[in-house]
Amino acid sequence: MAAIQPSGAHAVETHRCRELVCEEAGSPPRLRLRDCPPLRATGSSIVVKVLATSVNPIDVKRSAGYGARLLSLKGAGRFPMVLGNDFAGEVLAAGPGVRQWKAGDRVLGTLPTGARGAHATQVVVDGKLVRPWVGDYAAAEAAVLPYTFTTLWRALRSVGLDPRTASGRQVLVHGASGGLGQLALQVLAAWHARVTAICGPQSTDLCRALGAESVVDRHTQGISSIPAVFDASFNFASWPDDALLVDRLREGAMGHATTVHPLLGCVDQHGFLRGGYLAWRAHLAAARRARSRGPSVRYAWVVYQPDRDALDALQAFMAHGAVRLPIGFQAPLADAAGAFRHVAEGRPGRAALLTP
Ligand SMILES: NC(=O)c1ccc[n+]([C@@H]2O[C@H](COP(=O)([O-])OP(=O)(O)OC[C@H]3O[C@@H](n4cnc5c(N)ncnc54)[C@H](OP(=O)(O)O)[C@@H]3O)[C@@H](O)[C@H]2O)c1
Repeated sequence: MAAIQPSGAHAVETHRCRELVCEEAGSPPRLRLRDCPPLRATGSSIVVKVLATSVNPIDVKRSAGYGARLLSLKGAGRFPMVLGNDFAGEVLAAGPGVRQWKAGDRVLGTLPTGARGAHATQVVVDGKLVRPWVGDYAAAEAAVLPYTFTTLWRALRSVGLDPRTASGRQVLVHGASGGLGQLALQVLAAWHARVTAICGPQSTDLCRALGAESVVDRHTQGISSIPAVFDASFNFASWPDDALLVDRLREGAMGHATTVHPLLGCVDQHGFLRGGYLAWRAHLAAARRARSRGPSVRYAWVVYQPDRDALDALQAFMAHGAVRLPIGFQAPLADAAGAFRHVAEGRPGRAALLTP
């Protein structure tokens, strides 16, 4: 069975490796579990036995072909592909350049978007892109955090929010009931920001419980009726609402960031040249709109990528049990279709895949 075989400063493991392959673009996704060659830790990389990995909206979108053109530049656009950007697990082997990790360490981490993601029983990852799995988090609870927290962290930093600058700031969060939104509420509450959450009627109590000072039910109140008093605003919900959110900033605000920008979609639809041009024009118009609130107001399209500062921050929050996302669905890797359906249908709670 599984064994660790030390070999000099590093080790080569012989666990059976399986990966969840998305075979071609489709909705529902065409998923298949297949064997893959055992992974090796070289240089500064480690091999992690994945105990849990998450399914996020981007995985569902990519499984249907979204983003394939632009992501092909990172080797991540071609089917068959292994999706997934984060995991919680146990170190199996460490490359010769790795001092920090040894077999048996419990870690969580992120993978860059690339040809082979985290929906597998093992991943190879740069040792700098994992952190100790601290706190009382079950595998699924830990695995749903790194990707979403990293994206949130990049959004917060892109407008200049941190523990020092956030205290007392008025912040507007659209999509507050989702993964990014719930983490934003928890982090911003810990930083003593004054948050207004926009969400559907079923989530108003949840948003209050997570620290929102006030809550706007988007089904009964339009965004344009919210006063323009905010230091910062975040769009984690809907690109067509972006301009309305930017208009809620006060004069001289910090800025606005969105994770739901049309960059990938434009290039999918119109190709690199025209799509790139259209995306650039949309960004320019939105950034101008933000600057009409003041010359130093920031405007950002957030793009996920592994971020060591974000992982440090996540570790600090987890050590105090201060960030959590509820699990709405978990299943073995072999039953991944249910997890993809859960996310595609926008059901509450995160989706996690567990390895046997
Ligand atoms: N750019 C990047 O690198 C990056 C990285 C991570 C995520 N994202 C994107 O960011 C978005 C949020 O991610 P997430 O993980 O938080 O997703 P999520 O958990 O599905 O949450 C999104 C929330 O937005 C609200 N919503 C959905 N459709 C809406 C609409 N048409 N109008 C207004 N509100 C709507 C829903 O809540 P209510 O019904 O309660 O309002 C939902 O809970 C997703 O689109 C995701 O793909 C992008």
